[in-house]
Amino acid sequence: MNKKVAVVTGAASGLGKAIATAMGQRGDCHLIVLDKSPSVAQFAQSLGPSVEPYLCDLEDPAQIIAFGQHVRSAHGRCDILINNAGIHPKNPDNSKVALEDITLATWNAVLAVNLTAPFLMCQQLLPLMREHRWGRIVNISSRAGRTLIPNVVAAYYSATKAALMGLTRTVAEEGAPFNVTVNTVAPGRFLTPLSVKVTASNLENSLKSIPLGRVGDPDELAAVILFLTSDASSYMTGAVLDVNGGCFMP
Ligand SMILES: NC(=O)c1ccc[n+]([C@@H]2O[C@H](COP(=O)([O-])OP(=O)(O)OC[C@H]3O[C@@H](n4cnc5c(N)ncnc54)[C@H](O)[C@@H]3O)[C@@H](O)[C@H]2O)c1
Repeated sequence: MNKKVAVVTGAASGLGKAIATAMGQRGDCHLIVLDKSPSVAQFAQSLGPSVEPYLCDLEDPAQIIAFGQHVRSAHGRCDILINNAGIHPKNPDNSKVALEDITLATWNAVLAVNLTAPFLMCQQLLPLMREHRWGRIVNISSRAGRTLIPNVVAAYYSATKAALMGLTRTVAEEGAPFNVTVNTVAPGRFLTPLSVKVTASNLENSLKSIPLGRVGDPDELAAVILFLTSDASSYMTGAVLDVNGGCFMP
């Protein structure tokens, strides 16, 4: 099979959906849209016949390993991996969960989805990229992994999103001799089901801190991913791209 194979996790909603739609429209790869939500099947169908849905709960390492085996046996290659799925549990009123209220079970669940799953996906799929001496991995972190966002972000979220950048650096080092680039994208606030779950006052405050004066459209994030998964980004690896309307200028 000559066509490139691309994987987008968390593709049934929000940023993942926009990324998968843009990649599907580019039309240069067999696209696998992975999610734990069964709605991913209908979404794949809406994108066209070369888009494959894959149901997988990323909290379960065994399901990720089974996915890696599926990609190898069904396609024999993987060229592009977008580790996009992420969770940020909130209180019932959508406020942040304070440190003393975080249960170990929630801490472990967030670690599993936001950090262990990208690690396992890289471990499963990087060898396939090395074999073809070309690959693109993009890990979706967050502005919350770069800096404090007052009163919005729980400890498990900022911890996992910062750690994902460390993972990116080491995978980038190991992929580099094989022409596999690995980069982090750190979005600011984009309008998705995950991000609308903040209180109105928080949204108002965050708009004040965004020089461009608005939240991002998921298509604006997808455009960056199209670039990072193309040949045009061939000399970029181990980088962090801030896509946030200018609210964090390190
Ligand atoms: N939206 C934002 O403003 C924003 C900002 C910074 C970072 N991010 C990051 O971008 C990524 C996407 O966020 P979003 O806003 O699109 O979120 P979202 O909640 O709209 O979508 C997340 C998707 O991931 C899937 N998912 C969750 N847990 C899963 C699991 N265990 N197994 C498989 N799939 C699972 C969900 O079913 C959903 O389809 C996340 O990593 C998030 O942390 C988002």
